[in-house]
Amino acid sequence: MPSSEALEGIFEKFLSGSRIFSNREVLRHDYIPKDLPHRQYEITRLGKMLAPALTLSKISNIFIYGKTGTGKTAVVKHVLDSLGRKANELGTKLRLSYVNCRLSGTNYRVLAEICRSMGVQVPFTGLAVGELFNRFRDGIEKTGCCLLIVLDEIDTLGKRNAENSLLYELTRINESLHGGWVGLVGVSNDLHFKDFLDPRILSCLGEEEVIFKPYLADELCNILQTRSRIAFNQGCLKESAVRLCAALAAGEHGDARRALDLLRIAGELAERSDCEEVTEEHVRTAQRKVEHDQITEILTSLPLHSKLVLLSVFLFGSHSSKDGVTGDIYNVYQELCREVKVDPLTQRRVSGLISELDIMGILNARVVNFGRYGRTKKVRLGAGERSVIEALSEDGLVKPLFRYVPRFVRRTTGLAR
Ligand SMILES: Nc1ncnc2c1ncn2[C@@H]1O[C@H](COP(=O)(O)OP(=O)(O)OP(=O)(O)O)[C@@H](O)[C@H]1O
Ligand SMILES: [Mg+2]
Repeated sequence: MPSSEALEGIFEKFLSGSRIFSNREVLRHDYIPKDLPHRQYEITRLGKMLAPALTLSKISNIFIYGKTGTGKTAVVKHVLDSLGRKANELGTKLRLSYVNCRLSGTNYRVLAEICRSMGVQVPFTGLAVGELFNRFRDGIEKTGCCLLIVLDEIDTLGKRNAENSLLYELTRINESLHGGWVGLVGVSNDLHFKDFLDPRILSCLGEEEVIFKPYLADELCNILQTRSRIAFNQGCLKESAVRLCAALAAGEHGDARRALDLLRIAGELAERSDCEEVTEEHVRTAQRKVEHDQITEILTSLPLHSKLVLLSVFLFGSHSSKDGVTGDIYNVYQELCREVKVDPLTQRRVSGLISELDIMGILNARVVNFGRYGRTKKVRLGAGERSVIEALSEDGLVKPLFRYVPRFVRRTTGLAR
């Protein structure tokens, strides 16, 4: 345990300022930079599409999509900020409303947030969505305002609710308005979202489309350099470390958020180990940490039966000298179900779970042929053992099972430990 003097030293050092960072806030996810390199085209295009709103001419609805971390939110907020400032200057009746549908959570909360942004006060809960919608429509009629609504992460709204009533109502509202109008901008990183949408909503929402392409390594490098000039003290960040962050993030799918995370974590690692500058080594360690955290998050959020299947593979592997086939894993799984007193799923369902875990990279399942006895799969862990133990141990029901020695393996191999 560190002595109180040692701790005092740590606190003093922190308070006296960071050796590495001059402004670490700049690397946070919610920081909106003034400069957005490599998005001039998208900014200009959106600006041109939205400009007519300043004279209260109805704009086309816009659908924006692109993979995660490609700057959609940053660009939209940037354009909205400028538009809002201009609208204020002109004193027009244009109102802007930005809602993140994932954070808001439900149709009700999304709509309540839109109402509040145009000055219509509504209770946090209690009304039917239909009633809320009427108040919203009345609000627009009464004020005669024109409302531009940005629905960020719109896919989280659409998928929860098959015949998405709120989206449908919003796309139809102009038909029943006498003064004012509602313009919609939907933003999504789910490229398949459109397949889920009611074609009537889609044709209305997607009058114009803006697609954000993934960043290339050189572009990410520029983005990181621009940010790092504000975030890091001079001479504390090796150019090669920035290039490596960009290359690693570009290798995945050109995700600027990932690139910034790597840079921030690398900086924190350098700081904690009292180094004077951030090097490629720090970036590599940061990459391992991010991968480990990602897999831990996936593992901890697995449903119980997937965890039991995963644990069966783990236990089989640690008590047997060979990889288990699907049947072996199923036998161990049944024993585990008995131990925790839950009904086992059928072997067919468990096979399905194994395939899902294989796709996620948590298991490796290889098809093997047993001649006339048919085909089966050999299954072993795909994720690191340490990650699996750490993540599954967080589940109180599953944790004690790590000590369990499968009877089935004892019988077949005599290798009980
Ligand atoms: N061109 C850019 N210049 C500077 N920073 C950028 C740029 N593009 C993205 N970023 C930064 O990268 C991070 C991710 O960007 P953003 O949140 O806009 O992604 P997104 O496309 O909305 O992703 P998601 O689909 O996951 O919501 C943010 O911190 C943002 O500030
Ligand atoms: Mg976003």
